[in-house]
Amino acid sequence: MSKILVTGGTGFIGSHTVVELFNAGYTPVLVDNLSNSSIKILDQIEKIIGEKPEFHQFDLCDAAKVNEFVAANPDISGIIHFAASKAVGESVQNPLKYYHNNFFSLINLLEAYREKPINFVFSSSCTVYGEPDTLPVTESAPVKKATSPYGNTKQIAEEILEETANANKNYQFIALRYFNPVGAHESALIGELPLGVPQNLLPFITQTAIGKREKLTVFGDDYETPDGSAVRDYIHVVDLAKAHVAAIKLLEKGNPNGNYDVFNIGTGNGYSVLEAIKAFENASGQKLNFEIGPRREGDIIKVWGDVTKSTKELGWKAELGIDEMMSSAWAWEKYLKDNPIG
Ligand code: WQD
Repeated sequence: MSKILVTGGTGFIGSHTVVELFNAGYTPVLVDNLSNSSIKILDQIEKIIGEKPEFHQFDLCDAAKVNEFVAANPDISGIIHFAASKAVGESVQNPLKYYHNNFFSLINLLEAYREKPINFVFSSSCTVYGEPDTLPVTESAPVKKATSPYGNTKQIAEEILEETANANKNYQFIALRYFNPVGAHESALIGELPLGVPQNLLPFITQTAIGKREKLTVFGDDYETPDGSAVRDYIHVVDLAKAHVAAIKLLEKGNPNGNYDVFNIGTGNGYSVLEAIKAFENASGQKLNFEIGPRREGDIIKVWGDVTKSTKELGWKAELGIDEMMSSAWAWEKYLKDNPIG
């Protein structure tokens, strides 16, 4: 069965995608420099799929290593490229780290495949829409000026892919614009492993509930939304992983839209921070200690995706709802308490 290179394969979304690729009959081959993930994730994946996936540890910013890997693995037919730095706040403090890591890795991979046909799925983000003018936001909505170097790397990367696609038909690209990935595999053997204090809502909620953090601060309750807190389209990571398998399948079949395409990957539903907290409390049976605080600088007020295009053209739709997102994230946090993975 086809071999698919998964860069960032031991990371949060990468590890779930490895499992779904395997379930769909593909052979995932993982590359990761372990800068933001643990080698122990390979054992966790093995517990789920029954075998240890092939793994290579190196940094994709090293062009010689990338070329060596590509030459040694001529049977790879597709790439799912997750490996990137992704902390919004850190990118503001250290923009060059973000431009360096996110662009050199992408360009090295693309250059290594200049002469060979390759299917390539890129990990993009709804951050490219900024604060949308209309909701739900469609793929044809304008790309707004990025509010962080991280967001800018996603916008520019999409442009790099589109221009590269125009110049060279060897490349078949799909960029997936994720909304807010949350949750964990139903086995509770893999999930999100944030480094230090989590910046994202869900790990902060589960770490507060388990007692690692004292309380959650809700960043603002005076927005123009039904309950005043900000609204997002949370998407279960297993659904998101399956979207990557669907994208690889579409590329294998031949995408009638051409060799560069983008899809929204969300549920199409928006939940406020306060609704997310309620859903967590219901799913976990835990009361959450939280307080209302000031708005967080740079936050979008409300965004959720129009998923018509991904439903029709990618043949993919999110199946899991907010309850499964919350209960699986909670099960994973509880698993980590007894089985720390560092
Ligand atoms: C969600 C909501 C917060 C923490 C990030 C990236 C973005 C994209 C998606 C990948 C917001 C609120 C959070 C807390 C809170 N990623 N919140 N208290 O901001 O939508 O976007 O993930 O490309 O680029 O920036 O996600 O999880 O940080 O926040 O009230 O302690 O939860 O204000 O409304 P966000 P998030």
